[in-house]
This record gives sequence, structure tokens and C-alpha cells, in this order.
Amino acid sequence: MKRRLFIKNSCAACASLIGASWILEGCGSSLPMLKTAIANNNTISVPISKFTPQNNMVIVRGAGMENDILLIKKDNAYKALYMKCTHEGIGLTATSTKLVCPAHGSLFDLEGNVLKEPAHIPLKQFAAKVENENILIYLS
Ligand code: FES
Repeated sequence: MKRRLFIKNSCAACASLIGASWILEGCGSSLPMLKTAIANNNTISVPISKFTPQNNMVIVRGAGMENDILLIKKDNAYKALYMKCTHEGIGLTATSTKLVCPAHGSLFDLEGNVLKEPAHIPLKQFAAKVENENILIYLS
């Protein structure tokens, strides 16, 4: 009887861990964050040094912005995705492979495309350009 109870409890613990793993991945805590000001010309400057061979993504928090920007390096080019769900405007959580909406479960890939509804519009992107030792994100 004790063995049966142990197995039952162990399975419940494993199930909760499986659920928790998605939540933990969804918290995006492993991605570095840069808090920075917005320049007068409506740009945000991110040092290229924030990217390393092990790290190709940075969450950028511009002062006063409603939501963060996920800046992604791919093949020596940079993509700046606005982390605002296109369904009802909730802030997204970034993982190493996707963006997750905590409100109703929409998923977006790292190109900003919808992977799972209810959102059906891709994420807004900002132009991003390398200038000297920085990546400039153009907010308008
Ligand atoms: S606000 Fe993101 S799925 Fe509804």
C-alpha cells in the first residue's frame, strides 16, 4: 500500500514538474536585460559587446516604454521585436526559442510570426542597424 502511494505521489510530482518547466521557460529569466534611455532622435543604443558567442539575444528596456524589445542577433544581422502581444497588447515573455503571451497563450517565433493563436498578426519590428560599436534601434 505504501509503495502504491509513493508511485502515485511521484507521478503527481512529475506532472507538476512538466507543467512547471513550461512556466520556468516562459519566465525568460536566463536572457540578459539592458535597461537604457531613449535618445532624443528616438533611438535606443545597445553595445555590440552585449552579444557573445553563447548569447544571441538581449531584452532591451527603454525608459518609459510600455513594453520591452527583444533584440536578436542572427547571421551578423539584428532583429528588434516589440514584446507586445498583437492579440490584446499584453507584454510577452521571451525564451531562447519563442515569445509567449501569459494572457491567452499566443506563441510567436523569433521572426515575430504567430505560432499559436488567438493572436493572428505578427509582432511589430523596429529597424536595427549597426553603427560603430552599437546597434541602434529606431523606434519610429
Ligand atoms: S493578449 Fe496575448 S494572447 Fe491574448
